Amino acid sequence: MMCTKLTLVFSLLVLMLMVKEITPRVEFTNFKCRSVNKDFAEFTQCTLKSINRTYKYISGRVTLYKLPITKARVNFGLYKRFNGYRPFLYNQTIDACHFFKHQKANPVAKYFFDMIKEFSNLNHSCPYNSDIIVEKLSTDTVNHHVTKILPYPEGDYMLETHWMLNDIFSAVIQVYLTLF
Ligand SMILES: *[C@@H]1O[C@H](CO)[C@@H](O)[C@H](O)[C@H]1NC(C)=O
Ligand SMILES: *[C@@H]1O[C@H](CO)[C@@H](O)[C@H](O)[C@H]1NC(C)=O
Ligand SMILES: *[C@@H]1O[C@H](CO)[C@@H](O)[C@H](O)[C@H]1NC(C)=O
Repeated sequence: MMCTKLTLVFSLLVLMLMVKEITPRVEFTNFKCRSVNKDFAEFTQCTLKSINRTYKYISGRVTLYKLPITKARVNFGLYKRFNGYRPFLYNQTIDACHFFKHQKANPVAKYFFDMIKEFSNLNHSCPYNSDIIVEKLSTDTVNHHVTKILPYPEGDYMLETHWMLNDIFSAVIQVYLTLF
């Protein structure tokens, strides 16, 4: 009797763990890329793909027409939805070329950068001599960062980045996600 009860409890625990394991707490809801200056930069890819219920990813590629890129400044702002999206916690502009060499000096930028660096060719300092690519950044990866490394409250979020390349405002990228 005792034994079956234990087995039952154990099975339930395993089941709960499995459900937790395969149910991401993060869902991408939208991914938008906008070129601000088409003579300078254009998005040749900007996709949010659902392979199945648990495997979703975003991919983006920006083609740059005036290479090399020797200066790169990125503003990133996090927004959370209350009544409409409101600025939430972070609004920073970083000099990307400087950041690459001094990543530890900016833990917030490092936190966001660590999320994409393995999935991007944006993994070295300036100059940049080719298209910039983010390939298959999955909900699992983002999930790991936003729930395990630095937990955030539930809700709808939007991360907006503005890209100033060689002093030209070039692009806006927005990632929308829900934490539940
Ligand atoms: C979802 O797709 C990925 C990649 O094709 C695969 O590895 C995984 O097993 C799939 N998961 C489910 C639940 O079908
Ligand atoms: C971030 O700060 C800049 C400069 O103060 C401001 O122009 C911009 O609107 C702010 N963005 C967010 C997301 O709050
Ligand atoms: C950057 O990414 C490319 C392509 O994934 C890889 O071949 C290269 O070794 C990486 N460089 C660094 C410094 O991590």
